Amino acid sequence: MSDSELVRAARQARRRAHAPFSRFKVGAAIETAGGAIVTGCNIENATYGLTICAERVAIFKALSEGHRRFRRIAIVADTTAPTPPCGACRQILWEFAGDLEIILANLRRETGRFRLGALLPVPFDGRLLK
Ligand code: THU
Repeated sequence: MSDSELVRAARQARRRAHAPFSRFKVGAAIETAGGAIVTGCNIENATYGLTICAERVAIFKALSEGHRRFRRIAIVADTTAPTPPCGACRQILWEFAGDLEIILANLRRETGRFRLGALLPVPFDGRLLK
């Protein structure tokens, strides 16, 4: 699958964001090791703190459908500067997807490209719990 297909899926998912409080809509599309695309959008809550980001919706959907290995994720927001995943999403993505490739884009173009390991360089994870 091409980068642009994955970004297009994230843009489509963003349209379904439920963001009445921040008005900041985000879409994500994660590519599984088998080549499937699973999308997510942010879903806000009136208590604010129960809001869930697009990235976590995407990976939790994928996990709940049985996917366990992932190649990359595209994240789309309507910003000129890159919108990277928040700290909570970095942690969750790391635990379930490891050193994932991350493609950031806005509604028109790619805005950045990172490996998750570069965004979360000293991670806490299950290996420390043994
Ligand atoms: N948000 C995401 O969905 N992903 C990000 O990478 C950054 C932030 C959401 C959470 C909230 O609904 C809104 O954007 C503003 O923070």
